[in-house]
Amino acid sequence: MSQDKRASEQLKLTIESYHREFVYNDHDFEQVKTRIYNYAGIDLADHKKDLVYNRLIKRVRDLALNSFDEYLTVLDNSSEEIAYFINAMTTNLTSFYREPHHFEFLSETYIPSLFQQGQRSLRIWSSACSVGEEAYSIAISLLEANIDINEWDIKILATDINTDVLKTAKTGIYSLERIENLSLIRKKLGFMRGKNENINKVIVKENLKKLIDFQHSNLIDIWNIDEPLDVIFCRNVMIYFDKETQHTLLDRMAKLLKPGGILFIGHSESPTQAMKYFKSLGRTTYQKL
Ligand SMILES: C[S@@+](CC[C@H](N)C(=O)[O-])C[C@H]1O[C@@H](n2cnc3c(N)ncnc32)[C@H](O)[C@@H]1O
Repeated sequence: MSQDKRASEQLKLTIESYHREFVYNDHDFEQVKTRIYNYAGIDLADHKKDLVYNRLIKRVRDLALNSFDEYLTVLDNSSEEIAYFINAMTTNLTSFYREPHHFEFLSETYIPSLFQQGQRSLRIWSSACSVGEEAYSIAISLLEANIDINEWDIKILATDINTDVLKTAKTGIYSLERIENLSLIRKKLGFMRGKNENINKVIVKENLKKLIDFQHSNLIDIWNIDEPLDVIFCRNVMIYFDKETQHTLLDRMAKLLKPGGILFIGHSESPTQAMKYFKSLGRTTYQKL
C-alpha cells in the first residue's frame, strides 16, 4: 500500500471512530464474526463492519455497557443474550409471493401432478420463513391449486432461527401495504380485514393458519423433522452461508425429500455439488432424483 493510501485509510478510520459512541475495532468485529458463524453459520463479509455496529449499538446502550468488548463478555455468559444477538444479526427481508414462479409451479404443475397420481397428502417445509409470508403464500397456493384442503392431509412446517420474526409469523397479522401488490383473488383467498386495534391490518384466514406449524429451528443444527417431505423452500438464506455450509445443508435436504420431491432456492443462490441429487426444472426449481 502506498504511503498516501495508508494515510488516507488511517484518516478514514479515525473519522469513523470519532463518530462512534463506543469503541469498536477490528478485533471486536472479528469476535462478532466468529460468534455469528458458530451460532448460525452466517459468514459475515468484511464490508459488514459498520452494519454490525449499527445493529448492536442499541443493545450495548440498553445494557449500560461501555464498549463492544464488554458486550462480548455478556454474550459469552448468557444464552438469552445469544438469542438477542442472533435476532439482531439476521436479515429478514421477505414478501408475500416473493419469486412468484415457485408458487405458480406449485399450484399449476406440481400439486396437479400429485393429484393425478392419487396422492392426497402434502408435507412442505419453509426452512427460513422470516415473518411467515413465504409459508402463508404456500398455503394460499394450495387453494389456487383447487384442492380441498380439508380432505387432504397437509402440514406446512415453517422454521427460522430468529425468535422475533416467528412471533410475528404466528400472529398472521400484517399491515395492509404488505399485500397491496397481490391480485384480488389472492387477497380474498388469504386474508380478512382487521378490526379495532387491527383496523389498518389484514389477518390470515384461520383455515390457512391451521395448516402451518411455526417452530424455532437452526439450519446448522439438528432438525425436528421425522417424515419425508414433498417440497422444501430454502430461499434467500444460503447466501449468508459459506460453500461448505451450503453443501452440507443441501445434502441433508436432499436426504429428507421424497424421490420426485421439489426444492426451491433463491434467485441469487448458486447450486453446490449436492445438486447431483437433483435435476433442474429451471428457474431455481429442482426435483429430487
Ligand atoms: C432474507 S430472509 C428470507 C426469507 C424467505 N425465505 C424469503 O425468501 O423471502 C432470511 C431468513 O433466514 C433466517 N436464517 C438465517 N440463518 C439461519 C439459520 N442458521 N437457521 C435458520 N434460519 C436462518 C433469518 O432469520 C431470516 O429470517
